[in-house]
Amino acid sequence: MRNRRAALAAIATAASLALTLSACGQSSEGGSEEDKGSSKGGTIGIAMPTKSSERWIADGDNVVKDLKSKGYKTKLVFGEDDPDQQVAQIENLITQGVKALIVAAIDNKSLNNVLQQAADADIPVIAYDRLILGTENVDYYASFDNTKVGELQANYIVEKLGLADGKGPFNIELFAGSNDDNNTKYFFNGAMSVLQPYIDSKKLVVQSGQTGLTQVTTLRWDGATAQKRMDDILTKSYSSKRVDAVLSPYDGISIGILSALKSDDYGSKSKPLPVLTGQDAELASVKSIIADEQTMTVYKDTRELAKVASNMVAAALDGKTPETNDTKTYDNGSKVVPAYLLEPVSVDRTNYQKVLVDGGYYTADELK
Ligand code: GAL
Repeated sequence: MRNRRAALAAIATAASLALTLSACGQSSEGGSEEDKGSSKGGTIGIAMPTKSSERWIADGDNVVKDLKSKGYKTKLVFGEDDPDQQVAQIENLITQGVKALIVAAIDNKSLNNVLQQAADADIPVIAYDRLILGTENVDYYASFDNTKVGELQANYIVEKLGLADGKGPFNIELFAGSNDDNNTKYFFNGAMSVLQPYIDSKKLVVQSGQTGLTQVTTLRWDGATAQKRMDDILTKSYSSKRVDAVLSPYDGISIGILSALKSDDYGSKSKPLPVLTGQDAELASVKSIIADEQTMTVYKDTRELAKVASNMVAAALDGKTPETNDTKTYDNGSKVVPAYLLEPVSVDRTNYQKVLVDGGYYTADELK
């Protein structure tokens, strides 16, 4: 039993923590009275990369919801795609006494110092969707099978163009994600494992000549950057040719590419749009797929990912071993980080209704 003095001190600490939390960013209350003082009912810090993409907003909301249902309080921050800001935010969360951290990194190599502070304070760290590199101080990794994402995109292109049936040659252009995101190379390598044989046999031709990962990355996954690169490629390499497929790793990039294509008259009767991939099933892209513009996306159910991450937190705080299903693939340069990988799903006009609407990810109204 706690004495009155201890109880008062606890109330004062809780009040000042609540003040600090509400002074900065969003916080949410979860956890019952009984939870206070036990590992449950503590506050979990969640650092997401940006609000500029709707998926991360959904990820944040879903993680908060899940942790609350488990009796935790949460403090959710978004780094606005600025690595320094994310480091400062995580530092703050540690100072505020969070019990665990869930982090989707902006720059996978910028977090080493701040994660040392987390380790010194005995705070378990879950890398959320993006692996954090070069530090021992990341305990678990929750993500999707990132290689499979690239394979799904590339296989879709192969099938749509009829490459496996011997059709071709076709022109293709390649886009990759941000060079500071560890996922980028997994997506790209997964895709290239499928496309490279067709490039080697000249059934696929990259007219721009830009085929190396460093030539095709898109800093911070920015759609406008991708649009500009596609504009340049169309001007320089396609004045008298047509592009038949574009490998795009992410919906925000696909929307940028689509704008460039449309301003070059693609989408008209005489100049059909190329096969255009994507990832994340963001609302704008699903609508674009329904309108027959973007061709496909790779759906990753953020509700499931949130569940995996919050289960990891709960297990780690309860002194149990979180469930993982891959203990080999994700070497971060300091150690192999035990991971739980979910399955991504290819979505196009033929199955969006079944997967996204019947699956409860979007309502039919949202897609109108
Ligand atoms: C990656 C993530 C993708 C996409 C991209 C841009 O790390 O795995 O699903 O969201 O970031 O936000």
